[in-house]
Amino acid sequence: MSDVTGKKGFATRAIHHAYNPLDHQGALNPPVYMTSTFAFDSAAQGGRRFAEEEGGYIYSRISNPTLALLEERMAILEGGEAALVTSSGMGAITSVFWTLVKPGDEIIVDRTLYGCTFTFFNHGLERFGVKVRHVDLTDPEKLADEINDKTRVVYFETPANPNMRVVDIEAISKVAHSKNATVVVDNTYCSPYLQRPLELGADLVVHSATKYLGGHGDLTAGAIVGSAELMHDIRLIGLKDMTGAVLSPQDAQLILRGLKTLNLRMDRHCKTAQTVAKYLENHKLVSKVYYPGLESFEQHAVAKKQMSDFGGMIALELKGGLDMGQKMIDACQMIVRAVSLGDAETLIQHPATMTHSTYTEEERLKYDITDSLVRLSVGLEEEEDILADLDQALEIAGGGRNVSVMPKSA
Ligand SMILES: Cc1ncc(COP(=O)(O)O)c(C=O)c1O
Repeated sequence: MSDVTGKKGFATRAIHHAYNPLDHQGALNPPVYMTSTFAFDSAAQGGRRFAEEEGGYIYSRISNPTLALLEERMAILEGGEAALVTSSGMGAITSVFWTLVKPGDEIIVDRTLYGCTFTFFNHGLERFGVKVRHVDLTDPEKLADEINDKTRVVYFETPANPNMRVVDIEAISKVAHSKNATVVVDNTYCSPYLQRPLELGADLVVHSATKYLGGHGDLTAGAIVGSAELMHDIRLIGLKDMTGAVLSPQDAQLILRGLKTLNLRMDRHCKTAQTVAKYLENHKLVSKVYYPGLESFEQHAVAKKQMSDFGGMIALELKGGLDMGQKMIDACQMIVRAVSLGDAETLIQHPATMTHSTYTEEERLKYDITDSLVRLSVGLEEEEDILADLDQALEIAGGGRNVSVMPKSA
């Protein structure tokens, strides 16, 4: 069986790329290499491997065949030369920064970031002499005004967690490259099935593979994709020496399994989320819905340009503010009150007191993370069951009166 690569479609690559069962005793699924270390045939060979004069494995903190297969799949799906997988999304992000920056450098990041990413930058990197500046990256001209020769990295999420801000990857990359800054995009909310930042000019993509890539809420993992040169540096500096955030081979195997259904799951997440967003938009108790697939969404045109569909994440605000949002969350029966996202189960949470409680109140206000925002990760259950649960939760939050304009369908 020939290797299925390059020109084949997304799902085919996600299922077959870089693995031939006939090279592995016919095993349909790749073996899980549960080993920390690898034998050398001689002292000289060990030396050559350490000196990078010869390929082959040394120790699983550097590389492991199960991780290497996942890395090849991630690289081809994101359209990059090489990839690196890590034990969490934060492991991926921190490995990138500990490789790229040094004291005296500046980085420019968007106004909205996932809570722990924000903390790493503002309360972590800052302690080591790296200046972090938040710029509104939804406006490339603002970046052009702020970027300077000290700017080493431009970093953003699109859509951003939790308020769904969309950043024009192509436009920002052009401005950043005019000053030789490295563009890093957190593609967690989309997965490579919906958006491929490297094809739009970014230099590196990072993921929390805990989310859509794994897809089943049973592991934490991260991934980085980019040029072979950058990946080599991040592997040997950021991952091997600075963070040690190594993924276990078993979790790599679970992600390989998750990738096989990524396109099917994403199609379903997107279709249901679009319906749910429309339902919420028409609900009298809902004051604002943030979903890139809605025409009312401020950056709908940019989202349409760079995403093939609009994803499974929705943010909303209720007319009764924080109090009503919490009542709604508490009234959900099927929908699970939990952080994380991209799972089969629909999840609901309150960013200000949960995922983004790492921001101080002042910082949250400054960076547009309102107290009343509720975040929904639309799962893979039947659409009508998700709508029915939201409908009854909103009815209870609103004081018992059903003000929905859509009929309850389950
Ligand atoms: C957008 C985004 N980036 C990074 C992370 C961090 O990933 P992990 O929890 O796998 O460390 C998260 C986690 O929620 C996230 O939502």
